[in-house]
Amino acid sequence: MTIKYFLAALFIGFFNPIFSQQSKDPIIESKIEALISKMTLDEKIGQMYQAVGNKKIEQLLPMVEKGEVGSFINVEDNQLVNQIQRTALEKSRLGIPLIIGRDVIHGYNTIFPIPLGQAASFNPSIVERGARVAAIESSYNGIRWTFAPMIDISRDPRWGRIAESLGEDPYLSSVLGVAMVKGFQGKKMSDPTSIAACAKHFFGYGASEGGKDYNSTNIPERLLRNVYLPPFEAVTKAGAATFMTSFNDNDGIPASGNKFMLSNVLRGEWGFDGFVVSDWGAITQMVNHRFCKDEKDAAEISVNAALDMEMVTLSYKKYIPELVQEKKIDMAVIDEAVRNILRIKFRLGLFENPYIDLTKPRPSYKPEFLADAQNAAEQSVVLLKNSNNTLPIDTRKIKKIAIIGPLANAKHDQLGTWVMDCDKSRTITPLMAIQEQFGKDFEIIYEPGLKFSRDKSLEGFKAANAAAKKADLILYFGGEESILTGEAHSLANLNLQGAQSELITALKKTNKPIVFIVMAGRPLIIENETKQSDALLYAWNPGTMGGPALANILFGKISPSGKLPVTFPKMLGQIPVHYNHNMTGRPASGKETMIDAIPLETRTLTVGCTSYYLDAGFDPLFPFGFGLSYTNFKYDKLTIEKPTLVSTDTLYISFELSNIGKLDATEVAQLYVSDLVGSIARPVKELKRFDRIDLKAGETKKVKMSLPICELAFYGMDMKRNVEAGDFQLMIGGSSESGIKSNFKVTQ
Ligand code: BGC
Repeated sequence: MTIKYFLAALFIGFFNPIFSQQSKDPIIESKIEALISKMTLDEKIGQMYQAVGNKKIEQLLPMVEKGEVGSFINVEDNQLVNQIQRTALEKSRLGIPLIIGRDVIHGYNTIFPIPLGQAASFNPSIVERGARVAAIESSYNGIRWTFAPMIDISRDPRWGRIAESLGEDPYLSSVLGVAMVKGFQGKKMSDPTSIAACAKHFFGYGASEGGKDYNSTNIPERLLRNVYLPPFEAVTKAGAATFMTSFNDNDGIPASGNKFMLSNVLRGEWGFDGFVVSDWGAITQMVNHRFCKDEKDAAEISVNAALDMEMVTLSYKKYIPELVQEKKIDMAVIDEAVRNILRIKFRLGLFENPYIDLTKPRPSYKPEFLADAQNAAEQSVVLLKNSNNTLPIDTRKIKKIAIIGPLANAKHDQLGTWVMDCDKSRTITPLMAIQEQFGKDFEIIYEPGLKFSRDKSLEGFKAANAAAKKADLILYFGGEESILTGEAHSLANLNLQGAQSELITALKKTNKPIVFIVMAGRPLIIENETKQSDALLYAWNPGTMGGPALANILFGKISPSGKLPVTFPKMLGQIPVHYNHNMTGRPASGKETMIDAIPLETRTLTVGCTSYYLDAGFDPLFPFGFGLSYTNFKYDKLTIEKPTLVSTDTLYISFELSNIGKLDATEVAQLYVSDLVGSIARPVKELKRFDRIDLKAGETKKVKMSLPICELAFYGMDMKRNVEAGDFQLMIGGSSESGIKSNFKVTQ
């Protein structure tokens, strides 16, 4: 039975109302109308154009003077920003300020872990704080608009942009995407340190076929609504000021020409009243897509689809006048686009407060920002293996440490993608931090073995081996350089680059314990190296303060608490692999015959006939939500306050969580729900809540969680968002793989 349930506001009930979608301010609206009534068509088109602020920006000043530019991307100097802003305000006829945008993705000067790393913290306050720091640092340079958060659900680590994402899960991406919006936009958008957020890339881009960037996606509407759109809806409700269309075509329709999504869904269903910008050149690229015959056609389609601003290319500028004259674009559509853009300029306070106060000191790399970045890095590191308690380093047994690997001292490469505005000399590497913090207590021998992650030369192996032989413990810092992830940096092979695997194999022969610390922008294929290592820490690209964060974890000042925001495959051929897959008609049982156990000439029916790979099996290397600690946790006494509920109820649960080890630590407790029968096939489980809980050694806490039943709604057979009555199972645990379970029922 289906319960019709209207969810518009309730769906995101967990978000703080202060940051909820703003209602239109009548004073601003009347100012917008007054301006629009005075604007010529060219001035309106000017608002819809974002130019590149390159070194020749002076040449664009006459256009600014005529009101023919509404925004700049990438003006990098605050005096220049003041100068062009002055031109716009004082010399143009209507004095409309410019909005300056830049990709401020995971820090501006102070670099925080890449978004995928931040997602591993499962900590919205850390993510919010990172965005706040980035907003404070970047707004001093005149940037009042960032192209973040990137909330594309990413299930394919070949796709280089997975590094910029918040992982594979719609709920985690929603909560953390909202946290980023809050951080960027601040408490009041008109505060000079607030910068407008941009939800990108709308939509489906993370599902690029084969993980190849810019590739087509083929996401059917139901899957789109159940998996890919929730983070975008959540940030809309949280007041995200702008959206960016993506490069991909979904089922043949490029996102920049998709009227249904831009008009009906984004504005109609969700009530978005900010503005939408195209991705760089994405409008004119609709000609390459073979979706438009020329740029004029592209402009007509995008404007009519409700795409308000064109990034960089000139199709709006060149063709809107003719298209209006030919009545192919209605003036009302242009006015609406301009209205949306002006609304955000007003909300940012750009009309009242357009200039940067250069008398104030530059707020970069403040000690508290560095402390925040370190905290974020500490919470994002995931401990994936720890045989024989290799970690934390035991000071009684270990006296000499060999630090090996291409990323132990790589100031640039620990920062990750999108770091255009930082000073790499501020980076503290693990080698620097370990030497400084622990150099007195241990003998540290540094021999990188390889100069960089792609280095194929074996020249350094001898020295690295000699260092390993002298030491009691090997710390191997490897993975991939920053440049191997990010836009247009997809890979078809996710094994360790260069001669890293060979180096680890050589080090293993010394019989010294190996701790493998991975720095990477994506899950890598590291099954063999995991087996060869005694302990494995996944540090992503941890940012400016990655070194001290890792030193604190390695030496036990802090117990790791990160959890995987994305599933790690054992083999490349398992991709795409994600925890919230459908059950299938023949789910794997775990008893399947694996390839080496198949006797010769066996008939196929004898190997299992379930959904698995003969060589990789069914399970990933590490599941979503997984991450170890230096202690152990016990989940117990799960109780459900009322196990039979209706759709307007809230489910209240409690359980006991105990730290049964000897060290203080933090656990990310995760609540998953399985909908046992639906009008469509349902995922095996879905993350619905999580909480970081600090526990002293030996401590037990009673933890409570609540879940409004309306959050169990999904788009079912009738393509409407409903809660469906039936039986549900919930699971509480420290990963998506296992936990303590209980059942509840929704009756109507
Ligand atoms: C990227 C966007 C980015 C834009 C502006 C594009 O190539 O896809 O994510 O915001 O450039 O730099």
